[in-house]
Amino acid sequence: MAVVEGRLGGFLIVLTIMGLALPVFFIAPVQGYNRPPPRKNLYVPSDDPGSDSPQQVHISTVGADKMRVSWITDSPSPATVEYGTSPGAYEKSATGSTSSYKYLMYESGEIHDVVIGPLEPNTVYYYRCGSNSGPEFSFKTPPASFPVTFAVVGDLGQTEWTKSTLDHISKANYDMLLLPGDLSYADFDQPLWDSFGRLVQPLASQRPWMVTQGNHEIEKIPVLHSSAFTAYNARWHMPYEESVSDSNLYYSFDVAGVHVIMLGSYTDFDPSSAQYQWLQVDLGKVDRGRTPWIVVLIHAPWYNSNKAHQGESESINMKDAMEDLLYQARVDVVYAGHVHAYERFTRVYKDEANNCGPVHITIGDGGNREGLASKYKNPQPKISVFREASFGHGQLVVANATHARWTWHRNEDSDEAVASDSIWLTSLSSDPACKN
Ligand SMILES: *[C@@H]1O[C@H](CO)[C@@H](O)[C@H](O)[C@H]1NC(C)=O
Ligand SMILES: [Fe+2]
Repeated sequence: MAVVEGRLGGFLIVLTIMGLALPVFFIAPVQGYNRPPPRKNLYVPSDDPGSDSPQQVHISTVGADKMRVSWITDSPSPATVEYGTSPGAYEKSATGSTSSYKYLMYESGEIHDVVIGPLEPNTVYYYRCGSNSGPEFSFKTPPASFPVTFAVVGDLGQTEWTKSTLDHISKANYDMLLLPGDLSYADFDQPLWDSFGRLVQPLASQRPWMVTQGNHEIEKIPVLHSSAFTAYNARWHMPYEESVSDSNLYYSFDVAGVHVIMLGSYTDFDPSSAQYQWLQVDLGKVDRGRTPWIVVLIHAPWYNSNKAHQGESESINMKDAMEDLLYQARVDVVYAGHVHAYERFTRVYKDEANNCGPVHITIGDGGNREGLASKYKNPQPKISVFREASFGHGQLVVANATHARWTWHRNEDSDEAVASDSIWLTSLSSDPACKN
């Protein structure tokens, strides 16, 4: 796939025509620390612009045994997926829906969304999207029981650094990718969402990519585009309906004995909010016999000893509102992004080490154009076990109901097997001292 450097957005041009002050929209939420020289966004062009050939193919799990296939075409094409377990032989097909959205002068392609299944666990499926002349893709469904391996990475963006991260992840033998927010860094320039979709397709068409949103997904512009998360919601439809959530911004699902909860740091989280009430109900339904592990993803970290992104309401107020719920439910791990670095805390609750609290991990080191957050507060807090500003990703291998292995892999280490940080975790549901 050809890649050309740098791209000036239609967004800049539109705003200049309307005579509006641009800087208003380009101020990042928190600055004041020195990042290494940023790298420009890549732009991944379409192989066949204007056509009905499928682009930006990605998949996400739906319920226990279904998969959502999402893709975009420039020209109209049926929302149909043909699939089967042998290459070139598609014994089944399913039809879904097509949508599109407008953003300033930009009009999206045809966004197709088809749920297929029931599917067998741990099985390779071959599939074709849209017209029956399209290319063949394949994916593997997650296993129905342990072990299960997650790749975890936040704040991806689309730079040479991102490519290095994706290259590492592609060498990992994982079942599902979890992304705690900040995907494309399109930052209002909508064609960059398309470019991001094309950049991640080789991985995201093969394994389910389960994502939640960060501040870079908001893309709200006063007066001009007053609704938030337009592109994100249109392009990354997650299984919220199946988890009885009323919003694509927070949802949950079960995979092989793990209950995964995706929360929204940039939507209401106070105790009267729909998100809080949904979370309370969702946690109440978890059966630790069936899913001994609970993993939560947020964007803005609740624990963070980096100098970046201190004092933000999405960290402080969300933690104040929701930490008790996660603690009482004995959530095992909380992943966050936002800070462009890696940091692992010990089990914590209310700022102190607590054997029944979640391990908090910041994994915002996916490689976006803003660079690394390399300044830390000193001394290192006792609850912060490991911190480093390097690009990379993590892997959580859940071996069985009691044991899981977490490893962090730097992009600098060309051998994917090298782990720079690793720890065995034992599930809180198996710890008699943490029984509620
Ligand atoms: C769970 O996995 C760990 C690590 O591989 C192993 O030591 C332990 O014996 C396993 N437990 C069971 C019940 O199989
Ligand atoms: Fe962020």
